[in-house]
Formats: sequence, structure tokens, C-alpha cells
Amino acid sequence: MKTRVVLLAAGKGTRMKSKLPKLLHPLGGREMILHCLEAAHTIDPHPVVVVGHGSEQVRKAVGDKAVFSEQAEQLGTGHAVLQTKDALEGKADLVVVSSGDLPLLTGETLQKLLETQQKTKGAFSMLVLRQKEARGFGRVKRRSGKVVAIVEEAEATAKELQIDELNVGAYCFNAKWLWPALAKLRPSAKKGELYLTDLLAMAAKAGKKIGTVELVDADESIGINTREHLAEAEAALRRRTNRRWMLAGVTIMDPHSTYIDATATLGQDTVVLPNTMLLGDTHIGEDCVIGPNTVIRNSRVGNACKVEAAVVEHAVMENHVDIGPFAHLRKDAHLGDHVHMGNFGEVKNSTLAAGVKMGHFSYIGDATIGANVNIGAGTITANYDGENKNPTVIEENVFIGSDTMLVAPLHIGKGARTGAGSVVTKDVPAHTVVVGIPARAIRKLEESD
Ligand code: UD1
Ligand code: CA
Repeated sequence: MKTRVVLLAAGKGTRMKSKLPKLLHPLGGREMILHCLEAAHTIDPHPVVVVGHGSEQVRKAVGDKAVFSEQAEQLGTGHAVLQTKDALEGKADLVVVSSGDLPLLTGETLQKLLETQQKTKGAFSMLVLRQKEARGFGRVKRRSGKVVAIVEEAEATAKELQIDELNVGAYCFNAKWLWPALAKLRPSAKKGELYLTDLLAMAAKAGKKIGTVELVDADESIGINTREHLAEAEAALRRRTNRRWMLAGVTIMDPHSTYIDATATLGQDTVVLPNTMLLGDTHIGEDCVIGPNTVIRNSRVGNACKVEAAVVEHAVMENHVDIGPFAHLRKDAHLGDHVHMGNFGEVKNSTLAAGVKMGHFSYIGDATIGANVNIGAGTITANYDGENKNPTVIEENVFIGSDTMLVAPLHIGKGARTGAGSVVTKDVPAHTVVVGIPARAIRKLEESD
């Protein structure tokens, strides 16, 4: 049986009160709709996304993860599905329809819906939830146990509002039944929209079978209509992500204050301490200690690293690297094995080879630093002359004395030393000691020094 998935994403999301289309609001570090697509992909590699409001932006965010149907005017969820008819009629036996504003719905749940429909073989199957708090969901009406209608909140009587069986907003339709039925929908009384949910009464009246799947994990049903819902979904997703990593062997001391994006990964026996955010395309190896009070964004951290009270952005740390507290790695900082960077250091667009030590108060920008270089407290690469950014190259085993100003462009040869407080304006040959302002060579060192 061929199954296709349709995601409804044309609505304006008025209740978000936002300039950004609702489904592009980020959740767990990526656009809400990308979570829906991940679930959809477990069934259909090319789901159909119905776009309308903010169509260009939505298409751009989704890219080649789906194909699109345009709903020029947003005349309701039934009308939205109707827009996919040309693309899907005769090409699928089953059509799964879900809302783009249900980002926590999992692929497994969609799969259950599909299996139920394959068993019951009725007009369609739908996902329901029993919950006192209705959150604006449609109420599922039953008569002698059989579902007979979905009543939208806006159209419900006081008595119907009491019903605690809710329509989550995901369905699996028999395509043969769906297309002609959609054509028979009439505008709703209050809003004048074509409600997809009116299909239930239509099927029930015709004596068709309707399958129901009850959602077990209520978190999955968190639909985003307002920013309050968005925060609830964020919290639920965070719980889910943290649980996943703990089950995979990561220690999270305080899950409530640990924010791991859906896209980040961690290795076994890594420990995450409180107030830590691991964002975007971030990958942490095994046996690390990350945090407390740390933000890592789009960065790669190797094994056995320690990152305390630091901000790391678009950077790479190899293995056994130890930074912080109060360290800042900026774009294209690359720290080799066993690099130690202590408090109040900043590294930007620079490579520090294995074993480099910079313990205190330093800025290193646009530099290439060789293995085992010692960078004394307060060292600064003066990389900007007011017009250009200039490079600094420091070869291996150099000893930079405390409070050295390295005025770039500059090349410091192997095994050289600078005296405390020196201002180095000219290249320093290998194994040479320079001191003063501006720094001058005072002696040569033996290779063994
Ligand atoms: C809908 C259901 C409701 C269900 C709830 C739960 C209908 C009529 N109601 O209500 O029973 O409990 O979802 O998720 O279906 N959309 C379009 N085009 C339109 C209108 C909407 O693409 O013309 C899209 C929206 O972008 C959104 C989804 O359909 O992703 C649902 O629309 P929304 O307005 O949020 O419906 P609800 O009021 O939540
Ligand atoms: Ca909704």
C-alpha cells in the first residue's frame, strides 16, 4: 500500500502575534516544521507541505525535505488538504494528514495511526487524547461508544465543551474515500471555513468505520497556537532530549537547567553540569565534563575535554583540552590535544597546536601557534592595525613572557623567548631572547634551553 504524508502549514498563526510564520519559530534549535518533517520522513521520504502564508519563507526553510502544494487563500484545514488532490489522487492508497504545528508528534505515533487504518480499513483513523485541559482542541463526540462528530471549540455548546476526548489533529485516510468526501465539505457555521474535522460526521452518517488511536504521551499533542504553547513545547522537548541522552550514558546533573538542541550529540560518560546550553550543530565526545554555566554553539569537542563557565562558538577542541573558567572560543578557534586555556582567554580564528598553555588573560586572534608554546599572562596579539587584520605565527616551544604585545604581522621562530612586558614589532629568529619596548634581541639560546 502506498502511503503519502501531508503536513498542513499554510495558516498565518495569528495567535502567535509574530512577523515570522508560526511554523518557522525555532523549537529545540530548529524551525518547528523540521521536527514535523522528521516524523513524516519515517513514512514518506517526500511529504507534501501545504504552504500559503509566508510561503516563500517556509519553502526556503524546508528546502528539498518535502514537495509543496500552494493554498493561496487559507479557507480552512479541509480546503488545505484539497490543495494536494492534484498531486496525490491516484498516487497513494493511504494519506496521512498532520498539522505543522504539532512538532512533538513522533514518527512512531504516525506509524501507529497507519497500522490502525490498515487494520480497520474504514474511511480513516484519527489520533485522540483524553485530557481535562482542552487547549482549544476539537472535541470528539461519541454515541453508544461510536465516534460521530468532531466539534470545533468555536462552534461547541456548553455541554460539548465538557467533553474530555480531544482531536489531536493527525489522521490516516483511505484515499479513495478522502478525495470525493473533501469535495462535499461545506463552510462551517461560525468561521465559514472548510473544516477537515467535518469529515468525521460525514463518514459516521454514511456508516463508515473510523479508527481511533489514543495518544499515551500527552506531550506529543502539544500544539503550538500561542507563544505560551511554544514555551511548553520547548520544555517538553527538552525533557525528551535530556532523557534520550541520559539513557545513552550521559550524566546530566540538573536536567531542568540543561538545554540540548535536537541537533546536538554527546558521547558516553560525558557529564553535563547545570546551566549549560549545547546548541545547533554541536558534537561532544566521550568522558568530557561540560559546564557549569557554559554555552557551546555549532562546535566540535573531542574526548576527555573539560569546559567550565565558557562560551564556545564555531570552534573545535581536540582531545584532553581544558578551558575556563571564563574562556571564550570564537569562530574558527582550533585547540589541539592537551591545550590548556585558563581564565579570561579569548581565541579567534587561530590554531593552537598540541600542548599549548595560555593560563590567564590573553587574546589570540588570527594566529598559528606551534606545539608546546607557553603564552604568559596578559599576552595579546595586536592583530588589527586599524585597517587590516594581520597574522601572527609562533613556532613550537616558544615562551611568550607575561604581558607581551605581539604586533602583527609577526613571525616568532622556534624556541624563542620574549621578556615580560615586551612589545614585539619585528620578527624574532629561532632560539632568540627579545626584551623591551620595542623588543630587541639580547641573546641566543642553545637548542637545549
Ligand atoms: C485544528 C482542528 C482541531 C484540532 C486541532 C489540534 C480543524 C478545523 N480543527 O484546530 O479539531 O483539535 O487542530 O491540532 O481542523 N492550516 C492550513 N490552511 C488553513 C488553515 C489551517 O494550512 O486554511 C494549517 C495551519 O497552518 C496549522 C494547521 O492547519 O498548521 C491547523 O490549523 P489551526 O488553525 O492551528 O487549527 P486549530 O484551531 O488548532
Ligand atoms: Ca493548531
